[in-house]
Formats: sequence, structure tokens, C-alpha cells
Amino acid sequence: MSDTDRIVTQAEQLEHAFTIQPEAYVSADYARLERDRLWRKAWLQAGREEDIPAPGDFVTFDIGDDSVIVLRGDDGGLRAFHNVCTHRGRRLVDTPAGQRNTRGQRRNFICGFHGWTFDREGQCTFAQHREDWQGALTAERTALGKVSVDTWGGWLWINLDPDCAPLRDWLGPIPEMLDPFALHQMRCRWRKWIVFDCNWKVALEAFNETYHVQTTHPEFNVFGQFRGWARNHGLHTNIGYEAPKGQEQDQAKLRLGAGDDPRLSTAEMQVYTWENANTNTTRTLVDAALRLKDELPAGTPAAEVSAHWLKSAREADARRGVHWPVVDPAHVAKSGTAWQVFPNFQIGHAVNNMLCYAARPFGDHPGQCIFEAAVYELYPAGEAPATEWEYTPAEAWPPVLQQDFANMRAVQQGMKSGGFRGTLPNPYMERAIGSLHMNLARFMGAGAPRNLE
Ligand code: FES
Ligand SMILES: [Fe+2]
Repeated sequence: MSDTDRIVTQAEQLEHAFTIQPEAYVSADYARLERDRLWRKAWLQAGREEDIPAPGDFVTFDIGDDSVIVLRGDDGGLRAFHNVCTHRGRRLVDTPAGQRNTRGQRRNFICGFHGWTFDREGQCTFAQHREDWQGALTAERTALGKVSVDTWGGWLWINLDPDCAPLRDWLGPIPEMLDPFALHQMRCRWRKWIVFDCNWKVALEAFNETYHVQTTHPEFNVFGQFRGWARNHGLHTNIGYEAPKGQEQDQAKLRLGAGDDPRLSTAEMQVYTWENANTNTTRTLVDAALRLKDELPAGTPAAEVSAHWLKSAREADARRGVHWPVVDPAHVAKSGTAWQVFPNFQIGHAVNNMLCYAARPFGDHPGQCIFEAAVYELYPAGEAPATEWEYTPAEAWPPVLQQDFANMRAVQQGMKSGGFRGTLPNPYMERAIGSLHMNLARFMGAGAPRNLE
């Protein structure tokens, strides 16, 4: 095989051992090119629909040098504009220091520099001494720059490329796989963000495989094995756990604890997860797991424990007005635990809760990123808590996430080492990493994984 034959261009090649050079993680030139070749071309998850329910509601989203205003129009539809005044380029809506974004309600956007004013359609409705331009201030010249916007899954998606293909084309099989989970009905329980000292890919790759669980989160080893698969779907991937025959649903998030008595180990795993991660479960699921030992006899087969646990939690939620969607068990199994939406968003879905991660560059430094995590669940109508993005220092995150953080910083340091020869991801359990870089290289023209002989 020649050297160029080994460049990974097809998903099938990721089934064989591969290596990725550190350039994509540590090079300042690569990071700068990502702005033009990736971030200005890709569909990006930019916020949540329920954050802007009424006409005039808006939220800003910053990605590298670019900032976007996503706005609910008077007709209820969405608009998105570059957050830059057309007069002399002032950022139109400021983000207060220490805040992730700005959210609010406006009839007009008035620039703080000279007062040019823009309506909800992005049209300039007022420019002081307009006559001084002798007619040159046309609507076209003064309107805010348009950004493509669409919705899926309850999220706002933007694309800075005016000629981009539709969001649905970008998402590929994801809506078909995740629409049954009715993600748009979930609301945030918490959402936290942090500026982290690692590349955005290092951050995502701390969460898109389960190979690290046994070492990084050793407390989970008593609850079972966390061997998992990863599958490519064009731009995207999904991951899931391996599960014994007859317990296929355990490939997904709501899985049993291992051991002689799954009634007890499931309850222990649920309590541990609730207290130390505050993700991937809900109070209802924890309580239903704690009831298992009273509701089922010792020796109940694992598959029956699983079915009882989920039925009991589903019924408890229904009694308080929280209705889980019904998803075919085979579909639940196939959908796994999480989807990696190219380039920078991960949806860890279940029928009644989800955990989502996103990472993007902070400025154009290859060694810094904005990392975000949001936990969602189903709430009774009108009872979802009002949450905001909370800047949270590393030591204030749930302990399980801090374990992951410790790797992120250290990986970035390690990959800068002159003695590092490139990563060696597990071609089975860490295939999502290979897929990310294979697809990234299609945008960047560099950085593709290479198969090892
Ligand atoms: S830069 Fe906005 S009004 Fe002058
Ligand atoms: Fe982890």
C-alpha cells in the first residue's frame, strides 16, 4: 500500500487501525483555517427554540470571529443576522463580560456607536443625517447581513454560508433516528459552560467514546462493562454499549447495573449517577430503581428487571403529567447512547432525558475552547425551570465531569510534545474520533486519519 492509499477517505477504512497527526489539535494555522473552511460552512447548533418563543425575542451566538443574532420575527418565523452594524462595523448587540451570550426582547436594534437602527427584519430604519450620503444608503447596503437559520430537535441551527444546502440534508439520518425521542419537548434542568484549555476536538473526544470509562471513571466498574461500539453515518456517528442477547435495550442509555442482583446494582448505579454526574437520569428513574427491591423478588431475570424499572418510572411520570414517547425497543437499541452531530455537537438521548455537549473555538487559539454541557428532561406542562447558561469553573462541575476535564487539559499538553507521534484511537470503540477527522479533512484539505499497516 502506498502512503496516499492509507489516507482515510471512506468510513470502512476506519474499521482498521488508524492514526491522526496532532496538527488538527495544536496548529495555529489549522485553527485559523477552520474558521473559513469549517465554521463558516457548517450548520451549527446555536441555541434552543424555547429561549425565543415570542416575536422580538432574540439570542446571540458567537463562533470564533463571528457573531449571529437569531431572532423570532413578527410572523413567528426565525431570522438570523450577522451581529455587526453596517455603518462602521460595531458589534450590534454586546455580550456582557463573563456571559455566554445575550438573550432579550427588542422591537429595534439600536447601534451604540452612532444610533443606526435596525428592525426585526434586519432593515435599517434610521441613520442620523441620512441625506449626507446623497442617496447611497440603499436598503440593500444598510440591511444586516443574513445568516441561514432553521430548526430541528428543538434547537436553532445557523449556517454562515449564504449558499449552504438545507439543514435536513446536513443532518442525514439523524432526524429519522432521533425524532421518535421527541427531543423538542425536553427542557433544560441545567446548562453550564466553561472556557477550557484544550482544542475543541479534544473536548468532544473526551465524550464520544466509552473506552475511557473503566480508567477515568473507575467507580462505574462495579456497575458493569462499558464496552461500546461506534458507527459512521456520513458526516455523523453514533455510539452505544454492547449488550447481551435478550437485553438489546441495554445498548442505550437507560441500562441495568451488572452483577448477581440487577435490582440492587441498578439502584446503586442510578443513585451514584444522580449524585455524582447529575446527568443521564432523572429523579423519577432513580426513585423507580430504588423501588425495584420491594417490587420484584430476588432472582428476577435481568430483562424483566429492566422492563419493570422503565414501566414503573414511565407510569410514575405519567401520574404527574409527564408523558414519555413510546419508542420501539429495537429502535432504542439501534439509536445507542449518543449521536455526534458533525462538527461539534453531541446528543446523548433517551426517552425522557438527554445530555448534550458542544465545543467550539474560543477566539482563534488552537488550545482553547468553549465547552458546554446541558441536561434536559421532560417536565409537566409549565413546570420546566427557568435556566440560563451558567459559567462554571471546573471545580464546581459534577465530580464525574471533573474526571473527564482532567484528561482534556492533559491531552492538549501531551499532544504539543515534540515526542508525540500521533494518536492511536481504538478502531472499534473510538471510531467516532476517526470519523470526525475524516470528515473534517474533507472541509480542511488536511488532517485526515491514516491507516496503519
Ligand atoms: S457603527 Fe453602528 S451606527 Fe456607527
Ligand atoms: Fe467520561
